[in-house]
Amino acid sequence: MSELDKISSIFDAKIGSAKSKEDLQNLKTEFFGKNGKITQQFKTLASLDPQKRKEFASNLNKIKDDLTNQLEEKSSEIENIEINQKLKNEKVDITLPVRPYQQGKIHPVSQVIDEISSIFSEIGFSVAEGPDVETEYNNFTALNTPEDHPARDMHDTFYLDENKKILLRTHTSPVQIRAMLNGKPPFKIIVPGRTYRCDSDQTHAPMFHQLEGLHIDKNITMGHLKGCLDYFVKEFFEVKKIKMRFRPSHFPFTEPSAEVDIGYRIENDKIVIGEGDKWLEVLGCGMVHPNVLKNAKVDSKKYQGFAFGMGIDRLAMLKYGINDLRAFFETDYRWLSHFGFDPLDVPTNYRGLSK
Ligand code: PHE
Repeated sequence: MSELDKISSIFDAKIGSAKSKEDLQNLKTEFFGKNGKITQQFKTLASLDPQKRKEFASNLNKIKDDLTNQLEEKSSEIENIEINQKLKNEKVDITLPVRPYQQGKIHPVSQVIDEISSIFSEIGFSVAEGPDVETEYNNFTALNTPEDHPARDMHDTFYLDENKKILLRTHTSPVQIRAMLNGKPPFKIIVPGRTYRCDSDQTHAPMFHQLEGLHIDKNITMGHLKGCLDYFVKEFFEVKKIKMRFRPSHFPFTEPSAEVDIGYRIENDKIVIGEGDKWLEVLGCGMVHPNVLKNAKVDSKKYQGFAFGMGIDRLAMLKYGINDLRAFFETDYRWLSHFGFDPLDVPTNYRGLSK
């Protein structure tokens, strides 16, 4: 066996058992390094006579090319194996069930806002918003509540400056003004949001939630208001029939004004909504006062409509049998996991609001 054949067979044996990039590197050094087996053969060329040298050089070059190719092939083979191994190690089995963890819950107030938004969006209302910090003008004056009006005292206002020009809004009604000044009629909006009054007991919190409704168009009447609210309470309480009554009332920003009561009875210490001989007040409403339209730059000869305002927390308490309002704002996790809702169950009218 010639010297070159020997080298070649040693190489074959070694490359067969090479497993890593490092093995290959060692192999490369052993054969092609400064003192490598092939390198050394090249060094012998000079001492050969010309005829032999030519033949030997040609064989040597062939072997050199052959070994180099084998090294390259092996290198990409090892690379592939390493990549596949890495992919295998990092593989995530997405069919595995998730690890048990404490799931968050949707607060009943958020749930009820979503339910109400879904109900009103079915009949063409869109959702508008306004800031919690309001001007005295939007909260009272523009809503036809002049300086000396007794309604201002009834609202137990939190003022934020000495001149009583900036306040925490006492109701969501100022968003009526903002919405109308910001667009052109017709308007058909609901406005959920936080409201503030200096008041606190089992049924009153200094911060609470209201939902305002406003529908302004040509030829809107009290009949539309009744139809709209009748549809709303049935959908919201998820009952087919509901007893409802409109009681004359007074708000400076509506004329005529009414408060709406729904019928209920007590059965086994639980409140059953919709029938019975007891009445529960759920909202205030009326036809928007012409002065309000004037202040909001709407032509009251052409356009008119209704507005209503309801207490969201109150509705949530009624629907879900929660009897202390203060618990809403105490961030007690046990309370929330009992009364809260599944975040993946988004309420919609067609799929069901709360079931
Ligand atoms: N803003 C009134 C309140 O807070 C409710 C209401 C709104 C009444 C719109 C009539 C029209 O009590």
